[in-house]
Amino acid sequence: MAAVARALETSNVTSIKSLVESPTLSSVPSAYAFNINPNDEADPNDPEFAIPIVDMSLLTSGSPDQRTQIVHDLVKICEEWGFFIAINHGVQESLMKGMIEAYHGFFSLPDEEKEEFKFGNDVLEMFNYGTSYNLALDKVLLLRDFFKVRTHPEFHSHYKPASFSEISLEFSKRSREVALEITRAISESLGLQPDYIYNTMNMDRGLQMLAGNYYPPCPQPQNAIGIPHHTDPGLVTLVIQNEMNGLQVEHNGKWLTVNGPPNGFFVNLADQMQILTNGKYKSVMHRATVNNKATRISIAIPHGPSIDTIIAPAPELCEREGQAPKYHAMNYKEYMQLVQSGKNYMKATLDHIRA
Ligand code: OGA
Ligand code: NI
Repeated sequence: MAAVARALETSNVTSIKSLVESPTLSSVPSAYAFNINPNDEADPNDPEFAIPIVDMSLLTSGSPDQRTQIVHDLVKICEEWGFFIAINHGVQESLMKGMIEAYHGFFSLPDEEKEEFKFGNDVLEMFNYGTSYNLALDKVLLLRDFFKVRTHPEFHSHYKPASFSEISLEFSKRSREVALEITRAISESLGLQPDYIYNTMNMDRGLQMLAGNYYPPCPQPQNAIGIPHHTDPGLVTLVIQNEMNGLQVEHNGKWLTVNGPPNGFFVNLADQMQILTNGKYKSVMHRATVNNKATRISIAIPHGPSIDTIIAPAPELCEREGQAPKYHAMNYKEYMQLVQSGKNYMKATLDHIRA
């Protein structure tokens, strides 16, 4: 068992895709052992765990009253869940499927061809292909390969497979419109001007990525993990997936598997939203589980401030609520580096900057 993991580390096997496809793998190698406790999982039929749905068309083309209603609903959603499913968002289903297909094409390339996109773990690399999270730091290996592409403020094009560049450009632009509409509605839900988050977070130069994940089927899905519990560092992350579920969000102390309409965006608030709102809105804890039936592909699209933005609780909100800032101010690049440093392995980076 350990030999398989060593083989991976010494790069005889360079992707989880190849490891799982090797005919001998019938159980989880010990380096990948991670126990999921079924008692911690939520009952999806319990109304307490009904995932909030936000109809984006009511924000963009509804009546003023309908918009006001959604903005109002967002307060509770952001405070209690930090997560919702966005529907009627205007991004064509064919484009979403095409993006998943393009990622499928990338992950299907021979390992040697993907190697050229291994750039190490600097958060500001244009591309980063790899397996697990960070092989130098991971205490438990993750059943996941990933390929990240930076798409904003500069779009980095990528030529393998052939359609990837064109589709990712279009998909990144369209999904950015959805994310920006969400930040406008969230600004309003806080009683601020619609462009408050866009302006203070310098989103004209905001960091945006495509982060594709490949999770192969696993013979013992309760004994391995795709991505362990974490919060995302940015403002808001959109996620799409192929037909397989696996994303779980933490809600009321339980893990809930997200099962949504096939063309919705899963939307999770991230650390900068919690910091900006001085803890009012929640950067939701989430994780990716694996299954024993089929490969799951997901694409996370994190949206953040510009890398030079000083992130801190909004003075307007602190004053209004009569609260002292709960987080130390910090530049976003430093925050990202703190996330990647491994100091926070399986802990919330947020806890490191509490005032
Ligand atoms: C992530 C993430 C969830 C998923 O990439 O940060 O949380 O469902 N992914 O793959
Ligand atoms: Ni995440």
